[in-house]
Amino acid sequence: MEKRAGNPHLSIPDTYFDPERSLVSAQYFEDLRTREFSRLDEGGHVYLDYTGSGLYADCQVRDVDQFLEHHVLGNPHSENPASTIATELVERARADVLDFFGADPEEYAVVFTSNASAALKLVGESFPFADGSRFTLLRDDHNSVLGIRMYAQARGAEVSYLPLDDELRLDRDAELPDAGPGSSLFAFPAQSNFSGVKHPLSLVTRARDAGYRVVLDAAAYAPTSRLDLSEVPADFVSVAFYKMFGYPTGLGALLARKEALVELVRPWFAGGTVEFVSTQTGVHRLRADAESFEDGTPNFLGIAAVPRGLAFLREVGMERVSAHVAGMTERVLRILGEVRYPDGSPAVVLYGPRDIADRGGTVAFNVLDPDGRVVPFGEVERAAAAVGISVRGGCFCNPGAAEKALDLPAAEALECFESIPHGDFSLSRFARCMGPDAAVGALRVSVGIPTVGADLTRFAAFVQEFAAGRAAGTAHVAGRG
Ligand SMILES: Cc1ncc(COP(=O)(O)O)c(C=O)c1O
Repeated sequence: MEKRAGNPHLSIPDTYFDPERSLVSAQYFEDLRTREFSRLDEGGHVYLDYTGSGLYADCQVRDVDQFLEHHVLGNPHSENPASTIATELVERARADVLDFFGADPEEYAVVFTSNASAALKLVGESFPFADGSRFTLLRDDHNSVLGIRMYAQARGAEVSYLPLDDELRLDRDAELPDAGPGSSLFAFPAQSNFSGVKHPLSLVTRARDAGYRVVLDAAAYAPTSRLDLSEVPADFVSVAFYKMFGYPTGLGALLARKEALVELVRPWFAGGTVEFVSTQTGVHRLRADAESFEDGTPNFLGIAAVPRGLAFLREVGMERVSAHVAGMTERVLRILGEVRYPDGSPAVVLYGPRDIADRGGTVAFNVLDPDGRVVPFGEVERAAAAVGISVRGGCFCNPGAAEKALDLPAAEALECFESIPHGDFSLSRFARCMGPDAAVGALRVSVGIPTVGADLTRFAAFVQEFAAGRAAGTAHVAGRG
């Protein structure tokens, strides 16, 4: 094979080349798209919301379907044949998840949950916060991490946030406070679901050395980047499988260091979690393993589909996925950076890093009017939808990054929030209250394994024509390309 890797004129990593087929990965991903994701093109979809959810490859559902057609699976944890198959599949899936994340089964356990939020909640509700505890977060955390503060505050822990800089990275000068004398927790996203920023994984060791147990929220990171827990010794890791490989939904996991898991104190017990319960004596004893965190019947049919999804990611290769996503993200950034009005002023404002260093495939932005005002994100989202393009609008459950990116004044925002009665809140009503100069919410484009150049060509045409329409003062909308 011609040695093309290492060419100084290419800004993509060496791993972008497929050594097996002597083809640049661009062709590999074009072929994969045709073979496994043809439904996108059949329906004329440009799907750019991979941080919302990944898409499954056809082979995953086909193989899972075939497997289910030919096996009888029953509720696990009994001795009957249908049950023992299900039990074995669940245990095999657990081992496979550990293997995928490079986690030593002696050190780590996998708890299956219904999504990443449920994994995070398990930690929050069970963590032994008390007076003297600290809960330290990044302003870039997802709502499902921020929500842990409710448990922390209720039990007397001190809650503090590490700030972001103007690129929405962790501020260089941010000091990680020492853990308190009580059990303390530090939580951060491996990758921001707002800006795509990859926060340094070295924070895990730094925080552990400072006395914290560490939650690494890998929900947005794991779908397109290799996470190796033999190198990143997080105590708790949250993931969602539909984000990683699209199918099944309703399934995530908490990967937990066993030494950290035993410190958690479950607030209740349920079917499946106990060795023994008595109504006469009032005693109960939880099981000693991960199952003590899995309330009720696990999603055993969904869990049976997990190894096929992991196998798909292995087949493509996480290094190749990362390189592909970096290439596509670079194009998205270029497209958005190049949209300008005739006077040369930008038609787009980007939030977060402008280049692909230490970031994943998520890009947040707003479209600007020729006078520099932000076009309400909903208008752009609807216009994109009208031409078959799925992008996401809003704050993406990441209020801290949105507040920083959009420079929302805290006092005014609080006043507006409090002026809207409970049950009547909407971002558009909030935006009206904040006034025409405030940007409330943003747009988010995210790329994934199935993304190909043609998607981005159509996206570019859409943004350019949308901006041209704004310049012409009409609600001009790009046609399907
Ligand atoms: C970084 C991050 N954490 C947590 C979550 C919550 O995931 P789920 O909706 O699967 O609970 C998401 C979802 O977008 C996310 O991006």
